[in-house]
Amino acid sequence: MTIREIDKEYVANTYARFPLCLVRGKGSLVYDEDGKEYIDLGTGIAVNTFGYSDDEWVSAVTEQLGAIQHTSNLYYSKPCAMLAKTLCERTGMSKVFFSNSGAEANECAIKVARKYGENTKGAEYTTIITLKDSFHGRTITTLAATGQDVFHKDFLPLTDGFVYAKANDIEDVKRLAAENKCCAVMFEVVQGEGGVLPLSAEFLKGLSELARKQNLLLIADEVQCGNGRSGELYAYMNFDITPDIVSTAKGLAGGLPLGATLLGDKVKDVLGAGMHGSTFGGNPICSAAALNVLSRIDDKLLSEVRAKSKYIFDQLSGSKGVISVSGLGLMIGVETERPAAEVIAECQDRGVLVIKAKQKVRLLPALNIEQEQLEKAIKIIKEACAG
Ligand SMILES: Cc1ncc(COP(=O)(O)O)c(C=O)c1O
Repeated sequence: MTIREIDKEYVANTYARFPLCLVRGKGSLVYDEDGKEYIDLGTGIAVNTFGYSDDEWVSAVTEQLGAIQHTSNLYYSKPCAMLAKTLCERTGMSKVFFSNSGAEANECAIKVARKYGENTKGAEYTTIITLKDSFHGRTITTLAATGQDVFHKDFLPLTDGFVYAKANDIEDVKRLAAENKCCAVMFEVVQGEGGVLPLSAEFLKGLSELARKQNLLLIADEVQCGNGRSGELYAYMNFDITPDIVSTAKGLAGGLPLGATLLGDKVKDVLGAGMHGSTFGGNPICSAAALNVLSRIDDKLLSEVRAKSKYIFDQLSGSKGVISVSGLGLMIGVETERPAAEVIAECQDRGVLVIKAKQKVRLLPALNIEQEQLEKAIKIIKEACAG
């Protein structure tokens, strides 16, 4: 049997995979089982921050593997402590809870928000306002937080306590805040799965003002747009807002599973011993990987991210077959005249990997993609869009 046949037989049917089996990679180049080379602009959905098998990252991970691989959270562990310190120093947040995925990082944010509502306003203040077209994860509670019916319909009843406002419509948020007993507003600064749509500066400012007036927590879901992808370390840093909670995962450890929920001063002590936990969360290997990733997301890299973003926007905006280009930094959505699936398939044929977000072609290149590789890939994408 081929790998594809074995996978189809034995792996649960939850993924509509592309017809490729990827076996090795280096930087932004990846190879399938026939040895065909691709320039990858998908990075395992915004995970491989420095591409495939990056030398420095591999050294950091293997060094930690040779020292100690797992301790559980019953003991102190240097990589975990140092990572929490680094995240707090780089963001101004106060404490960090570690988990293994974006959904779990959001679960923690939701638990903290509910407990904060109870502590400060009363036990009935449990509702969290999220946005239509948002995506916050696949657990029953983070599905409930996700403002897209299509993800809800097969799994009812979901966790209570979420209401959905129109993105970029502050009046809709105010209406829901008035109609419900709320503890928080949760949002992606750039909605990823919803179609790579950045929130407007005006809307974010409005959210921030409303949150201050009504003692609502601001929860920024930076699972996809965080960790340098937006051209700042976290996407909220492009705007004049200070979230109370930041959840992140994906690119944080550059290819290993790690979630983090960053807690601001107001909420840093909401969770006490025994109120939340994770066996693997903050695992030494994943933490060592994340320390390496964060140490390399510096001003120089971030300005390169912004320059490459501008290059992509300039190349694709107004190009034949392109209706619009949206996004921030190296998180870009391309609305095309041809169906996105056709553009993606043609790119794949021609050695470029891109993915989909709703009906758009989504580009999530490695933050350090070589300019020459980027130019080659964008030329092929342009030609595929033109049809
Ligand atoms: C914004 C956002 N939040 C949460 C998640 C869920 O992350 P995970 O798949 O790691 O649970 C995703 C995944 O795509 C995401 O894009």
